[in-house]
Amino acid sequence: MKRFTDANRTLWDARVEAHVRSEFYDVESFKAGAAALKPLETEELGDVNGKSLLHLQCHFGQDSLDWARRGARVTGVDFSSKAIAAARSLAAEIDLPATFVESDIAALPDNLDGAFDIVFTSYGVVMWLADIRRWAEVIHHFLKPGGTFYIAEFHPVSWIFDEQAERLEVKYPYFNSGEPLSLPATGSYADPDGNSGTFTEYSWCHSLADIVTALIDAGLKLEFVHEFPYASYPQFPDLMERQENGTYRLKDGDGSVPLMFSIRAKK
Ligand SMILES: C[S@@+](CC[C@H](N)C(=O)[O-])C[C@H]1O[C@@H](n2cnc3c(N)ncnc32)[C@H](O)[C@@H]1O
Repeated sequence: MKRFTDANRTLWDARVEAHVRSEFYDVESFKAGAAALKPLETEELGDVNGKSLLHLQCHFGQDSLDWARRGARVTGVDFSSKAIAAARSLAAEIDLPATFVESDIAALPDNLDGAFDIVFTSYGVVMWLADIRRWAEVIHHFLKPGGTFYIAEFHPVSWIFDEQAERLEVKYPYFNSGEPLSLPATGSYADPDGNSGTFTEYSWCHSLADIVTALIDAGLKLEFVHEFPYASYPQFPDLMERQENGTYRLKDGDGSVPLMFSIRAKK
């Protein structure tokens, strides 16, 4: 698995600079006080003031720092050294206290000590992890007894569709065989023209059942699993439209496909 993780790390390192400058992340507005987190996660996770929060796969730390602005004592983790450097620099620029740690999630217990009130992760995370059961063990390891885990994520059903097609067409398997899906990285959600043809990305579609079962088997008690027919981000930009509340729905077949899920669980 190491070669897949190494390849993905190279890809993510290459994306950071363009993402920090991107319209998608709009760092200037964030610096001026705009929220980076979406209403779904702030409402479902609730008050974080005074709590210690571990943010897994924090990218360049904008969401982590938004939690810090809301009063959490934040530690962000990502395996990209470029992302961690950018996160530290953003924190220094806006003068918010936060700790950022460079680590593969699977190896985090070797690289970080401590236990947290909250472990948080969101949007575009689990598909990069080969071993979802290890991920759940790491979450359990870092939670204090009584602590809360929360994830808001694209629904694994939404990963099975052809991202280029003019209508939703099934292209990829829903069930994880253990072997990664290997695809040429043709730009990213925040930098559509970036790195075309240069990299290969390796991903795993973890079914909702695999995610939920991994969390239960790791020792977490689920409080809810929610599925949504809309998403906080337009994962099929040509097929979706923005709704008044800022979420995105499918123009055709609205309501028929799960696009996002969230889980809250306790240790
Ligand atoms: C889509 S981004 C997360 C985006 C986040 N929701 C945001 O908007 O800031 C996925 C992140 O996962 C990180 N990542 C991927 N595989 C990882 C791994 N095995 N361990 C740690 N971080 C990983 C990447 O470096 C990237 O920053």
